[in-house]
Amino acid sequence: MEQDSKVENQLEEETKDIPKEQNPGCPKSYLLHFNISKQKNFGRLVRSAAAFGVSEIFVVNSGKGKLDLFGHQGTAKHMDFRFFKKLKEVKEYCNENKISICGIEIIEGAEPVHKMPFRGDTLFMLGNEGTGLNQNQIDVCDQFVYIGQYTGKTASLNVACAGSIILHSFAVWANFQEHTRVGYKYEEDQVDGNSHSNIRSVLNHDADQVREERQRLKEMNDKAMDDGAAVEGIGDIFGEDP
Ligand SMILES: C[S@@+](CC[C@H](N)C(=O)[O-])C[C@H]1O[C@@H](n2cnc3c(N)ncnc32)[C@H](O)[C@@H]1O
Repeated sequence: MEQDSKVENQLEEETKDIPKEQNPGCPKSYLLHFNISKQKNFGRLVRSAAAFGVSEIFVVNSGKGKLDLFGHQGTAKHMDFRFFKKLKEVKEYCNENKISICGIEIIEGAEPVHKMPFRGDTLFMLGNEGTGLNQNQIDVCDQFVYIGQYTGKTASLNVACAGSIILHSFAVWANFQEHTRVGYKYEEDQVDGNSHSNIRSVLNHDADQVREERQRLKEMNDKAMDDGAAVEGIGDIFGEDP
């Protein structure tokens, strides 16, 4: 008995730095970064992916330049990234690993998300802000899903909003376990400098930090304005008007 608990403790100690599998036994979701042009949209998608239990973020990156993730609000360090040089490589990887590629688009043959038309492990791919999914993207998809809209006031949703709705629906369909709430928030995992995430090596960290700080100060200022008093000196910090 005592021996058993000794072994258990030793096992726990040895495996404590290995990330635990989220939602074991449930289908997995993945998100692909390809053809999204605004960094803030991708940053926001990373944040939603972190919230909705996405297992990995796939990035097609020809190796040129660093990845900008403005708006991820620190969530990238919790995520695992897998890099590919070409969309074709993504398709091969998905075929080998039985991952269905689902295009999120208002397109002929797409199924409405409220019907939960998911098939198992799924990689989600969104279209460009201006032009939607391109032909290369369409050609690698196994299925398409769209979000019903109920007025004629806008032709489509913002790409990060569309992705967030789909990732949330997948989490509901896959029966992911809801995380622990604390007060008005969800309990956040602590990640130290040795985070398992491989994002640090490619993150455009300096530019990202400056933009995040600028955004934080702008939000503080907006809030202060609402409360009747602007925060002074924001323009001085960045050498420009807030
Ligand atoms: C702003 S939309 C693209 C613009 C639009 N295709 C056009 O031609 O004006 C950007 C992306 O968001 C996603 N999207 C936006 N609204 C959607 C909806 N109702 N259903 C599914 N995807 C949507 C799609 O991936 C789309 O390619």
